[in-house]
Amino acid sequence: MTVFQQAVPLIRDDLLREDVIGFIGQEATHAAAHQSLLAHLAAEGLDTGPFIAQLRWFFQDVLGDHGLTGKAAHGWLVERVAIIAAIEHVTPFLGDWILNAHALDPVSHAPADRSALSVIAAARPGTAYSCRQGFCGTCRVRVLAGEVAHHSSGTARRTDDAMLICVSRAAEPGGRLTLDL
Ligand code: FES
Repeated sequence: MTVFQQAVPLIRDDLLREDVIGFIGQEATHAAAHQSLLAHLAAEGLDTGPFIAQLRWFFQDVLGDHGLTGKAAHGWLVERVAIIAAIEHVTPFLGDWILNAHALDPVSHAPADRSALSVIAAARPGTAYSCRQGFCGTCRVRVLAGEVAHHSSGTARRTDDAMLICVSRAAEPGGRLTLDL
């Protein structure tokens, strides 16, 4: 943030300056979201301390101003902006990867001889279900992505954006569904 505060007065393009100021504001909101995430991870028993210490070392020590002045300070400021811009361009790919990486999914595969409910309930013992036959609608979950082959009865609730995991599954063999569990 300090780097961009130093850089803003040097930007001559009005539009770019506005974008950078918007970016700084967005990053401040972002920082608040990170605090909530850290609190959540701590509550889950995950120690983020070493990772945070490394980030602090990188952004405060490595990317610090090192007491430079004059041309050296200006050159180093430009380099720091470039490094941070590069990092900002990589993070969306990391975000996409972590949201969509199959290896990180808590439930990754429902074989042909098991229902989606069976696989999900094994991984999440609190999963709600009752009839297991597509009648009651208890196991209904929202489908965030993927095509569903619905096998529910007419009495159970069923919509295009939801499925009954006790009887329905991906439309194609080996097809992928993203469920809001
Ligand atoms: S458990 Fe009753 S519809 Fe799935």
